[in-house]
Amino acid sequence: MKFFVDTADLNEIKDLASTGLLDGVTTNPSLVAQSGAKSFIDLIGQICEVVPGPVSAEVAATDYATMLKEGQRLAKIAKNVAVKVPLTPDGLKVCKALSDDGTMVNVTLCFSPAQAILAAKAGATFISPFVGRLDDISTDGMQLIRDIVQIYRQYPLIKTEVLVASVRHPLHLVEAAKVGAHVATIPPKVIRQLYAHPLTDKGLAAFVADWAKTGQSILDAA
Ligand code: E4P
Repeated sequence: MKFFVDTADLNEIKDLASTGLLDGVTTNPSLVAQSGAKSFIDLIGQICEVVPGPVSAEVAATDYATMLKEGQRLAKIAKNVAVKVPLTPDGLKVCKALSDDGTMVNVTLCFSPAQAILAAKAGATFISPFVGRLDDISTDGMQLIRDIVQIYRQYPLIKTEVLVASVRHPLHLVEAAKVGAHVATIPPKVIRQLYAHPLTDKGLAAFVADWAKTGQSILDAA
């Protein structure tokens, strides 16, 4: 399973990229606003230099003609930009036009299997179903992931990858991995939570203490 980080914070991205476990980045207008970046274009360029994998940059307009121009502009920033478009009729038209031209496209704001079928037909590189936002309205977000993975598997010609979005906690990731979702985009805080287990901390503390009792040093050994 590929891990993308869901943030527009360049320092967080640099830090997480240094783990060697990061495969890509997703941003959205809300995350860009939170980052305080003065130039969206420059920010995406900087992120693309840090992470060689797909970096999602979202269009701001909602009409076909303007979204297409914005998408073409964003795609010029770097080869690893995935243009993010909303799951609307105009957004999917832009998806088709850009993907026909060889640009990666991430279709965002997917909340139903029917929408995911449309995105695949429009040639999306990624479909982003939002798990957490469905959970927030008392709907089983993970069922949407199961449904989309199952549907896409029926059609080997579909190359669209299921990119689990709106991830709120480690269990979302584990459940998505169990059903074979291709990618999860995860907030930095949740990525750090993935490492944590109290028995790991307890076990390590005991090993460190017992090793000290031996009085030895591995690096000083002859
Ligand atoms: C995905 O690309 C979105 O940026 C993101 O996952 C949305 O998450 P949220 O529902 O926590 O805002």
